[in-house]
Amino acid sequence: MRASHWMGAAAAGVLALAAGDLRAQDAEKSVWDGIYTAAQAERGQAVYGQSCANCHGQQLAGTGEAKPLAGPEFLSNWSGLTMADLFDRTRTTMPMDRPATLSRDAYADVLAYVLKFNGFPAGGAELARRSELLATIRIEAQRPAGAADASGAGKLAAANEPMPAAPNSQPNPYVADPGFFKLPAGRTMGSSSAVGVDSRGHIWIAERCGANNCAGSDLDPVMEFDSKGNFIKAFGAGLLLFPHGMFIDAKDHIWLTDGHSEPGKGAQVFEFDNAGKLLRTLGKAGVSADGPDTFAEPNAVVVAPNGTIFVADGHTPGKGPARIVKFDESGKFLKQWGIRGAAPGQLEVPHTLALDRRGRLFVGDRWNNRISIFDQEGKFLQTWSQFGRPSGIYIDRNDVLYVADSESREPQGYGYHPGWKRGVRIGSARTGEVTAYIPDTEPNPDAGATSGAEGVWADSKGVIYGAQVFQKSVVRYARK
Ligand code: HEC
Repeated sequence: MRASHWMGAAAAGVLALAAGDLRAQDAEKSVWDGIYTAAQAERGQAVYGQSCANCHGQQLAGTGEAKPLAGPEFLSNWSGLTMADLFDRTRTTMPMDRPATLSRDAYADVLAYVLKFNGFPAGGAELARRSELLATIRIEAQRPAGAADASGAGKLAAANEPMPAAPNSQPNPYVADPGFFKLPAGRTMGSSSAVGVDSRGHIWIAERCGANNCAGSDLDPVMEFDSKGNFIKAFGAGLLLFPHGMFIDAKDHIWLTDGHSEPGKGAQVFEFDNAGKLLRTLGKAGVSADGPDTFAEPNAVVVAPNGTIFVADGHTPGKGPARIVKFDESGKFLKQWGIRGAAPGQLEVPHTLALDRRGRLFVGDRWNNRISIFDQEGKFLQTWSQFGRPSGIYIDRNDVLYVADSESREPQGYGYHPGWKRGVRIGSARTGEVTAYIPDTEPNPDAGATSGAEGVWADSKGVIYGAQVFQKSVVRYARK
């Protein structure tokens, strides 16, 4: 494979040189060498939005017959060919409803955007419009060893190489107990994506007031149970609209995000003590905005052992922020990061957060079907796709990683993740190996956007709790 790529490139170089058109070093270029500019990709994004997105999709993921223009399938189709092949193919056949109607400049620009979206680095010169120049640029899915790496971006993408993983193949050593929690008489469990276990082994659940929304309800959505599933107490009536993400910190404080907002309520992060006293809030009640002291749609919160707070903000693909916001322990805004997109290190829907023992921040980017790992300053480290499409992540004190996939679907459209099934995957936050898989029990997952656990936590003995939106229940999983 590799050898034929290089031979193809060499042959292209010889041809181009024979045309008397080129300097020799051009023949050795690849898409990793910074062959378009950032400004060009930005122009290309506008062209894409006007002429390509209606068929190939906003996220270049493809729709119907129109193939994806980003990701492994696209890259393996084109790896080993040259930019001239891609340019000529695109120019002569696309847009499919009116081929060859754009200028050569517009085709070059739109391909610059496609390259950027696929994670290839920008550089100092624009992508050429002439086929004989484009024929000197190899398309290589992986950065060739030893290639110049002027921008440093190649390193990121190399670290991004997905680990080999056979989806859905791991054993399930767990047995489910869906009726574990005993609610007070007359009270039913609503949809939940928020569950946690405190240091005493008590289980905390934030559910959506017997329904999938607390708006207008006077029920208490935050519930405490003992380690046998007996109800202890509940609180929080009237405070939250849509409890979404939960974290329990080293002081057994209960942190919650409210993902919805209405005038005067919502779009906030709450910290309660375990008596149910509200200690503080972050964000402004009812103000949905991506400022330093407001959130648009806060999904998740985690607190580091030193008190540093991280909030993941932005639940809607293609709209609003897709960012991680960092605060010090007093709640003072420190920084934020997150560029919307699918390239390595970019985020689309940062749905869930967890910290491993080394302090690395795991961001479950649900829309992009992957976990992106950052350091606490926002430096991108790695992408992991082997744990599925993450709605919830928990990492225990031994770096066991639990990931809830509630959305993977076979058909194209929302949740598209062919070959992957929903359920909870368990593995190592150190090595990235997946060792166990608890399948979702919904018989027809492709019928709906969500089923199975969205929120996940494990206690100190490895008992897992999965909080389910569609099934309106929290399921306990103990080892067989
Ligand atoms: C009217 C729908 C439509 C529009 C608009 C459209 N395409 Fe396509 N495109 C398709 C379809 C369908 C295919 C698959 C059939 C084929 O290969 O010709 C495809 C295939 C492609 C391929 C080949 C992908 C591969 O891996 O083989 C590329 C590249 C491409 N389109 C680029 C573009 C670009 C760039 C634009 C905008 C300038 C665009 N398309 C606009 C429908 C469209």
